[in-house]
Amino acid sequence: MAQVVLENIYKSFPNAGKAEKVKSPLQPLIASVEETAPDLNSVNVLRRINLTVADGEFMVLVGPSGCGKSTLLRLIAGLEEMTGGNIWVGDALVNDLPPKARDIAMVFQSYALYPHMTVYDNIAFGLRRGASGEQNKDLASWGKNALSGMTRRFPAPLRYKSDREQEVDKRVKNVASLLQIEALLLRLPKQLSGGQKQRVALGRAISRNPQVFLMDEPLSNLDAKLRAETRAQIVKLQRQLGTTTIYVTHDQTEAMTMGTRIAVMNLGQLQQVARPLELYNRPATKFVAEFIGSPPMNFLEVEFQSPLGISHPLFSFNLPKVWEKALSKYDRQPLILGIRPEHLSQGDAAPSNLPVQVDLIEALGNETYLSVSPTNSANVASMQVRIPPDRPVSYQDRLWLSFPPDKLHFFDPDTGKAIWHD
Ligand SMILES: Nc1ncnc2c1ncn2[C@@H]1O[C@H](COP(=O)(O)OP(=O)(O)O)[C@@H](O)[C@H]1O
Ligand SMILES: [Mg+2]
Repeated sequence: MAQVVLENIYKSFPNAGKAEKVKSPLQPLIASVEETAPDLNSVNVLRRINLTVADGEFMVLVGPSGCGKSTLLRLIAGLEEMTGGNIWVGDALVNDLPPKARDIAMVFQSYALYPHMTVYDNIAFGLRRGASGEQNKDLASWGKNALSGMTRRFPAPLRYKSDREQEVDKRVKNVASLLQIEALLLRLPKQLSGGQKQRVALGRAISRNPQVFLMDEPLSNLDAKLRAETRAQIVKLQRQLGTTTIYVTHDQTEAMTMGTRIAVMNLGQLQQVARPLELYNRPATKFVAEFIGSPPMNFLEVEFQSPLGISHPLFSFNLPKVWEKALSKYDRQPLILGIRPEHLSQGDAAPSNLPVQVDLIEALGNETYLSVSPTNSANVASMQVRIPPDRPVSYQDRLWLSFPPDKLHFFDPDTGKAIWHD
């Protein structure tokens, strides 16, 4: 087992159609920091990624589709070449090592099973291939292993099992029992459901006992119920095995429920790396605040007046004193106020509260979501409110929403960075 260290990782792809003009894709990117003029000959997919995944940690990499997650995993696996940066697995710098030499196993969204092989052989494949280098040193063991291969499809009493094959057999059965797929070992992939295929793909990765697992959206093809079950299984399995894991998903629920820590990515850059609840409670950017949490955080553009005034065309109030220092440089400047749907509460008709009208009610049974829009204001986007299920609300009701002072988030309108008080 090992920690994984990513240092200043860059990746650019030649721009389609202009690829022939790129003299060396390496030079322009390493030399340029993001702020300099963009290099039109290449697309910068990953920009200065720094991340340390601790030994045995379950790290989830989450971000919208196209932000570069798969590319980063492929770089770690060695399936793609980096444009710049370093990758360590344990103490080894693996930049120039081929995928096989990195001791990493990857699980993909498309299970990538060999269709003509049984579940057993799919799991055994990597083990047989992995071992052949060492064990076929002499002619005798080559002969034994070849005989094993030839008689593999024979009825059990006629099968010849070399020492290596017995070792493989033990491992396959071990992994099958761990994943509860013993009964499926003789089936072909086409005879399996999606969930079963995914477990076989996991089995194939686990059987090699690698230093690191990389998983790229392995649950995307499963239906919601199976996804939730398999999610829990993977987490449990990873705890049991203790293998350092980097798990990619675009789904924030998956990220929040599975990760020891979560790395949030957008547009090829890491936004924040933190434990799930820290991301939720203290998002470092507006992007993270919006991406983590469902329904997402609401944002309102307000103006700040020193020392503690917040004003909006429809409401105004004073902040607690803790905010004074952090916000002092925004005097008479716009600010983005963020508030989560579950933190907006119903208040009285008062100048400090926001008058809204209910546009949509979604009663889920255990809770109710309201979509509301500020009254008398055409240009304020609709907002989401979460209320207890027993609160009576009807379509087009008018409500006054109040802003609990300890639940407010503020973001710089230019940089999107969160502003925190001490
Ligand atoms: N081989 C490639 N050549 C050119 N562009 C690519 C290549 N692979 C990925 N990209 C681009 O890199 C970006 C990130 O892709 P990807 O890593 O697959 O994102 P994600 O997995 O987060 O959805 C996308 O804009 C994609 O179009
Ligand atoms: Mg992807």
